Amino acid sequence: MKRQVTTLSQFIIERQADFPYAKGELSRLLLDIGIAAKVVNREVNKAGLVDILGEAGNINIQGEQVKKLDVFANEQFIIALGSGGETCAVASEENEDLVPIETLVSKNAKYLVCIDPLDGSSNIDVNVSIGTIFSIYRRKSEESTSILSEFLQKGTQQVAAGYVIYGSSTMLVYTTGKGVNGFTLDPSIGEFCLSHPDIKTPETGNIYSVNEGNYMHLTEGVKAYLRWCKESDKDTKRPYTARYIGSLVADFHRNLLKGGIYIYPATVTAPNGKLRLLYECNPLAWIAEQAGGQASDGRNRILDIKPESLHQRTPLFIGSPEMVTMAVEFNLKNQ
Ligand code: AHG
Ligand code: MN
Ligand code: MN
Repeated sequence: MKRQVTTLSQFIIERQADFPYAKGELSRLLLDIGIAAKVVNREVNKAGLVDILGEAGNINIQGEQVKKLDVFANEQFIIALGSGGETCAVASEENEDLVPIETLVSKNAKYLVCIDPLDGSSNIDVNVSIGTIFSIYRRKSEESTSILSEFLQKGTQQVAAGYVIYGSSTMLVYTTGKGVNGFTLDPSIGEFCLSHPDIKTPETGNIYSVNEGNYMHLTEGVKAYLRWCKESDKDTKRPYTARYIGSLVADFHRNLLKGGIYIYPATVTAPNGKLRLLYECNPLAWIAEQAGGQASDGRNRILDIKPESLHQRTPLFIGSPEMVTMAVEFNLKNQ
């Protein structure tokens, strides 16, 4: 029997009643992100042809300037968000300052978007999974003079968050606070189709994901936890398996489905870690929690951090709840 397929567009419209505010606008914004994701996906799939089409910064055979994929992705998302008219400004990893959307339609726009347009950029050239991460906030007041201060809301205030993974297949996963749903792009029809409804992460798992090359620079707590991960214990299925792609989206996605923990800790040289709160940690933290997982900075819940700047960094411990609890315990005990 043929199964009925639900597309991303159908799903968003069907669930629109769940949104607390500006329902139609949020639906359109999510759909715009889905469209930009398809455009970026098309370019990601061509990335291996760079030798034929020309290196970034060069002129390709059509005589066009070839853009770096992260710059291209940034432009595509900003264009899509701008033309939709629901977004009044964007905070992007690729732009030091806020990008105001100055089209007429955006004058009364009700939403703010934070985005990492291309995550895992060191993997672009080697055909390894990369991603996009986004987070959407409601604009508090249309008269507000300081849009910047509106971006500095806690992660608990997000109204939608998600990521796209450009992997062996392309998926879009998002939440609006009523669980997490995943959609796989069917290239033959060019639609994201519901493939992973109501994702729940396992309570525990046996995967740990951390860049252990930094071991010498880690805090005593994280070092102790990593040693514990490698010990033998049947009950807790240790030693755990080490898996680290170097694309947060891809590492997070695998651990979300299989059970595991991803850590980007503080190091001696980078006391706030590497990852950015607004457009990497907050959106994934909310998705993790909505799927039954946890996200911490090693002490406190990520979503409770009050941001002070757009590109603020934070350590991140994220994944299966039992594993995050244990890692945070080690971190706190061994200061
Ligand atoms: P981006 O490509 O957006 O700058 O993010 C890279 C991030 C993240 O995706 C990844 O998990 C982490 O950097 C890897 O860092 P290390 O190479 O230091 O492990
Ligand atoms: Mn990133
Ligand atoms: Mn990036």
